[in-house]
Amino acid sequence: MGTDVAFWNNLAETYARKPVENPSAFDRKIEITKARMRPGDVVLDIGCGTGSLALRLAPFAAQIYGLDISTEMVRIANDKARTQGVDNVSFQVSPFDPSWTAFEPESLDGICAYSLLHLVEDRTAALDQIYRLLKPGGFFISSTACLGETWVPYRPLLTVMRWLGKAPRAAVISKQTLAAEVQRAGFVDISQPEIGAAATTCFMVAAKGS
Ligand SMILES: C[S@@+](CC[C@H](N)C(=O)[O-])C[C@H]1O[C@@H](n2cnc3c(N)ncnc32)[C@H](O)[C@@H]1O
Repeated sequence: MGTDVAFWNNLAETYARKPVENPSAFDRKIEITKARMRPGDVVLDIGCGTGSLALRLAPFAAQIYGLDISTEMVRIANDKARTQGVDNVSFQVSPFDPSWTAFEPESLDGICAYSLLHLVEDRTAALDQIYRLLKPGGFFISSTACLGETWVPYRPLLTVMRWLGKAPRAAVISKQTLAAEVQRAGFVDISQPEIGAAATTCFMVAAKGS
């Protein structure tokens, strides 16, 4: 975990400066997320990075909470919220794992995890925790790098890159595996809307049954 915190802390300033890779796909993800939100919603953004998503969603919810393991990402996210005068976002530093108990079960209307699920140490536990935290009928929207369906030998490549400090821990999974895992966690109405992203991006919308 320490290695990954250092990796994301080192990347934070560059990440904040870098333009979004595929702006139209990002806009489409946000449109789909906004369409699920109601003005009174309390929404959690896991792996919030520098707060780009949380700040875009803020006008459409009562409160957005962002969570990230990186102190630097969260520092930048807080700076951006202050500069933009957004007062219904709040960013916290923590890994998303069972040690994080900031919210009661069934207390959140929606959870987003953009570019996060392939990074967590225990994806099964993370999906169970997301399910637990959501109110019945709540939405879960994720965007995940799914590198398991290409010919590129990502597993050994990522192992070496991580060892060199050039990559974080990242699981190599297929979209099919991820969809099965989300279903196993109990989610319903699972779909993968087309957003014009790279073939290795799995954008998924799901709900907790009411
Ligand atoms: C690829 S960035 C994505 C940031 C943002 N969601 C976005 O789409 O721009 C991944 C973020 O997840 C955070 N992260 C990685 N593992 C995490 C964990 N276990 N718990 C919370 N945040 C984590 C990293 O610090 C980083 O800011």
